Amino acid sequence: MANDYIVKDIALAEFGRKELNIAETEMPGLMALRDEYGEAKPLKGSRIVGSLHMTIQTAVLIETLVALGADVRWASCNIFSTQDHAAAAIAESGVPVFAIKGQSLEEHWDYLDKSFMFDEGPNLILDDGGDATLYILLGARAEAGEDVIAVPTSEEEVAIKAQIKKRMEASPGWFTKMRDQIQGVSEETTTGVHRLYDLVKQGQLPFPAINVNDSVTKSKFDNKYGCKESLVDGIRRATDTMMAGKVAVVMGYGDVGKGSAASLSGAGARVKVTEVDPICALQAAMDGYEVVILEENLDADIFITTTGNKDVIRIEHMREMKDMAIVGNIGHFDNEIQVAALKNHKWTNIKEQVDMIEMPNGNRLILLSEGRLLNLGNATGHPSFVMSASFTNQVLAQMELWNNGDNYKNEVYILPKHLDEKVARLHLDRIGVKLSKLDAEQAAYIGVAPEGPFKPEHYRY
Ligand code: NAI
Repeated sequence: MANDYIVKDIALAEFGRKELNIAETEMPGLMALRDEYGEAKPLKGSRIVGSLHMTIQTAVLIETLVALGADVRWASCNIFSTQDHAAAAIAESGVPVFAIKGQSLEEHWDYLDKSFMFDEGPNLILDDGGDATLYILLGARAEAGEDVIAVPTSEEEVAIKAQIKKRMEASPGWFTKMRDQIQGVSEETTTGVHRLYDLVKQGQLPFPAINVNDSVTKSKFDNKYGCKESLVDGIRRATDTMMAGKVAVVMGYGDVGKGSAASLSGAGARVKVTEVDPICALQAAMDGYEVVILEENLDADIFITTTGNKDVIRIEHMREMKDMAIVGNIGHFDNEIQVAALKNHKWTNIKEQVDMIEMPNGNRLILLSEGRLLNLGNATGHPSFVMSASFTNQVLAQMELWNNGDNYKNEVYILPKHLDEKVARLHLDRIGVKLSKLDAEQAAYIGVAPEGPFKPEHYRY
């Protein structure tokens, strides 16, 4: 089909290609998979729907899937995270992509719908946050007569439910057909993984899922070291504020919180942390951060949510914040901050993804990316090198689902440790890491094989 894409400006393709070429030099894991499997084409016959931030790094992922034989169609998983030159380069290469930075919520679901439109239908999903999976499963439940799209309670829900209704009217039975045709999903992030485990609990997961997030070489690298680089990048590009000396409160001290606190601290901010989990609170304290209650620290300069939870910064908190406080989120969804409660306030748009909001007492807040993940909305997300580790896991997961899917039940799986170690190994040369070797006696003494895996399953890194 001619022009089977929606991008901002196809003329950006050349710029996108130049940055893609640079990114390839920083993504050794993906390039190694192309070398190892490019000829065998283990993804031949697969038709993959991708729903993941359409960035330069994702473009290298897409081209790796294609090099391994997959047919791919792509949408972004967030309305602000697309890099338009990356989308243009992918469209120009002939891969259908539907993504524009700053698209509306209605477009978000419409574009996702378009990414399912293979002639013969898709057979795999590569998801980030679970929207592609949710779309199909919610639609199939609606087709089964369940009352799941009747009463939307948020803007997001209005948009997805309207899109489901539209598709049901245009193609009766479509969602059920899609659901039955999908052979598996690989999920990128913590929040999407939570959704998958919930589905299993409710007996509602209709195909096997691979939890890519909990590969060690994903969450302990992307979520942590990725945010360490990209959080402050986002705040700086948005505000140009002096970070050193400012007081920042980071909510949540999981993997993303650890990277975010380190990011702000590295820039010279005085960082405080809030937590609900005593283990993570103790970790934060022993990493040198004051662990506090948000309500007692509303005089800080910068507030960042990293929890994957909802209603963490509420309207009553924002009413107490000082003039020109910066408020942002780096967790997957925008419901960590009660942005909806600000809608009836006076908003002044400063530039794309930066708004100043006047509170009733006259104080102004700077809100980043309307509460959506600011490292992708206000900057360009994580650097290529760390995304290479995440996406190498993604490709291995897709290969596993495609070639050995029959071995899996409709549950959530993590890739085996030898593959996790392989992903790490593929990234060592690029940064000059030299590995020591175990001799046979040493290996026997600690109870491992000399070539690994080097740790038991319960080891936590
Ligand atoms: P995690 O589960 O490791 O950490 C979340 C932490 O927040 C936990 O320690 C939890 O105890 C804490 N928490 C929950 N509710 C809280 C509350 N009300 N107040 C204070 N702390 C609270 O999850 P992870 O991997 O750190 O991911 C967090 C979010 O970031 C998820 O939504 C994930 O999908 C997203 N993510 C975003 C990335 C990005 O580039 N923007 C990259 C990777 C993940």
